[in-house]
Amino acid sequence: MQDLDQYTVTDATLAQMAQTPNPRLREIMDAAVRHLHAFAREVSLTPAEWLAGMKFLTAVGHACTPFRQEFILLSDVLGLSSLVNAMHDARAGEDGTQTSLLGPFYREAAPSHALGESIAGLSSGEEMVLFGNVLDAAGRGVPHASVQVWQTNAEGLYDLQLHEPEQMDMRGCFACDGSGAYHFRTIRPRGYMIPMDGPVGGLVQAQRRHGYRPAHIHFLIGAPGHRELVTALYLADDAHIDSDTVFGVSQALVVRPSLDLAGSPRPDLASIRYDFRLSRTADGGSGRVGADPSKILEPAP
Ligand code: BEZ
Ligand code: FE
Repeated sequence: MQDLDQYTVTDATLAQMAQTPNPRLREIMDAAVRHLHAFAREVSLTPAEWLAGMKFLTAVGHACTPFRQEFILLSDVLGLSSLVNAMHDARAGEDGTQTSLLGPFYREAAPSHALGESIAGLSSGEEMVLFGNVLDAAGRGVPHASVQVWQTNAEGLYDLQLHEPEQMDMRGCFACDGSGAYHFRTIRPRGYMIPMDGPVGGLVQAQRRHGYRPAHIHFLIGAPGHRELVTALYLADDAHIDSDTVFGVSQALVVRPSLDLAGSPRPDLASIRYDFRLSRTADGGSGRVGADPSKILEPAP
């Protein structure tokens, strides 16, 4: 018979799990239990606080639907999604463009556009042009790389928040030319609040955080033999550029549209030049942290 106290219960739990045949499951659960127990001891967790935590997690689960993933939002506001992205980048073996959150508004099968076309079909606002190259880690263009783009409109809303799902806007797929160059037109996106009407929003409010993401344009870039890149470009002059609620911004991803930009295919428009760098396929893992909510319940391909 074991004589358990607040310290030995950790070892007893680890001992029971020690036969786990899958070594990675064992490693992950071992560390999870050690850190969870250390956390409870550090804050001297009371039964009432434990119950409040259970109720909170239950509410997070109840807020999930086929179209909403509140657990991923929780991971986002706790900085976990960005941490996982940063470790994914560190494993690449080659320096590529930094990963940034996929977010809940990515959709597969966005409309294909020819280079130079605009992704703003139903929306209007300040027109901009984005251009540059998709490069490999050695700086060579990646011919015909695919570039998927999605963003909010000038009011800070995604198409999914405005229209029926069949009606897509402010998103599109482009194929780079044979030298890896891309350009497309869009309108200036506006920053927005993450979904605040659920338990995660309640937590963010209780922490006196503003809940905003600075204005950004999402990218998902791929080419055979290269690691898929999930990233975003953030507009420098947004009031929340230094306090993104989900920690997606880093300096290398901050851009400032400018007129008369050298090399712009449309120097008359506010232009952004950005070259993306893909690393070679190293660990084969996907950089998608976040998900198309409508895909979450579908079996993996
Ligand atoms: C987004 O950028 O679309 C996003 C990311 C994380 C949480 C909410 C929104
Ligand atoms: Fe977004």
